[in-house]
Amino acid sequence: MEFLTLDKLPKHVLASIDLQRAFIASRLIVAAERLQIFRVLHGKRMRGGELGRKLVIHKAYRGAVLDSLAGLGLLQKTKGKYRNTRLAEKYFIEARSIYWTRQYSKECAEAYEALRKMEKTLATGRQSGELRARKKLTYTEAMAKDRRRAEDFTQMLFHFHQKDAQALARRLDLSKHRAVLDVGGGSGVMSIALAKKNPGLRACVLDLANVCRVARGNIRRAGLSGHIRTLAGDIRDRLPGGFDVVMFCDIGPVSKRLLGNAYEALPHGGMVVAVDRYLSEDRTKPLDRVMAQLAGSSFPRATRREMVGALESCGFRAVKARRVLRDLWAISGVKHAYSQTQSR
Ligand SMILES: C[S@@+](CC[C@H](N)C(=O)[O-])C[C@H]1O[C@@H](n2cnc3c(N)ncnc32)[C@H](O)[C@@H]1O
Repeated sequence: MEFLTLDKLPKHVLASIDLQRAFIASRLIVAAERLQIFRVLHGKRMRGGELGRKLVIHKAYRGAVLDSLAGLGLLQKTKGKYRNTRLAEKYFIEARSIYWTRQYSKECAEAYEALRKMEKTLATGRQSGELRARKKLTYTEAMAKDRRRAEDFTQMLFHFHQKDAQALARRLDLSKHRAVLDVGGGSGVMSIALAKKNPGLRACVLDLANVCRVARGNIRRAGLSGHIRTLAGDIRDRLPGGFDVVMFCDIGPVSKRLLGNAYEALPHGGMVVAVDRYLSEDRTKPLDRVMAQLAGSSFPRATRREMVGALESCGFRAVKARRVLRDLWAISGVKHAYSQTQSR
């Protein structure tokens, strides 16, 4: 999804938006999605009291929340009953799975909390003890502990990465390769697209046990259980051999240690591919990635050129940066094949 930067908004729209108030509206929408107000109202009309009881919304806020959502054009209020507008149906129900609703709204709520900490740190010039003391689980630790969290996150990305996966399968020529290790392969979305495009290809999704369980369901539903398997493990450990492609797709920063492990595991002529939305050279794009740093994200902070350099410094040759789709790039390199670095 492309981030709409302020310069792209028509001037009269920009003049009429109060960005600080828009922040309050956005916080309200995230709260509504977390409560699943739009899902409960899907195809129904309800009075505030009935909806409040169903979702356990305290009456102190109930009227203001529902009426604000109506004011924003997300609910329609007729004779005291609320229902979703077409916009809410389209945006919150049709375009999103339940996993997306649960996981994304949770991530947004965590981001607001992180922004509060950012503000406190900016204002005081130092991180207070309170900010340092509370150690939060990383998302992988949380998924390792909690199956539901693993399912929500993984299936949200299964939905979210469909177009990226199709584009990667079109853009990456794997016709001469036979087996891909999809490191941190999550839902299997990328492996599924690659296996569909290259019927002779085998793939293996390496991920946490709770994530592999979800991936197996997706692979089975895609009719590819004979082509793609899963392997539960830690991607920071030595990687298994037997693959002529090692792929890292959207797994956070790909360290030199990970690249070194890929180099070790690959045969001569084998290929490594790192796929992500790397930062532009001036580090101002993609804007959502740049701003996500303020909310404590673990997205990579490497630019495309830095990734090319990282692959080369780990011994890979014929390193190429290819645009996959919009701001998604694939940086590939070959073990022990000699040619020049190029960028397209
Ligand atoms: C953002 S998801 C991307 C999934 C998939 N590659 C895709 O593009 O849809 C990153 C995945 O890497 C996995 N991962 C990250 N660190 C890991 C670790 N240390 N061990 C195993 N899996 C890990 C996560 O569990 C998650 O499934």
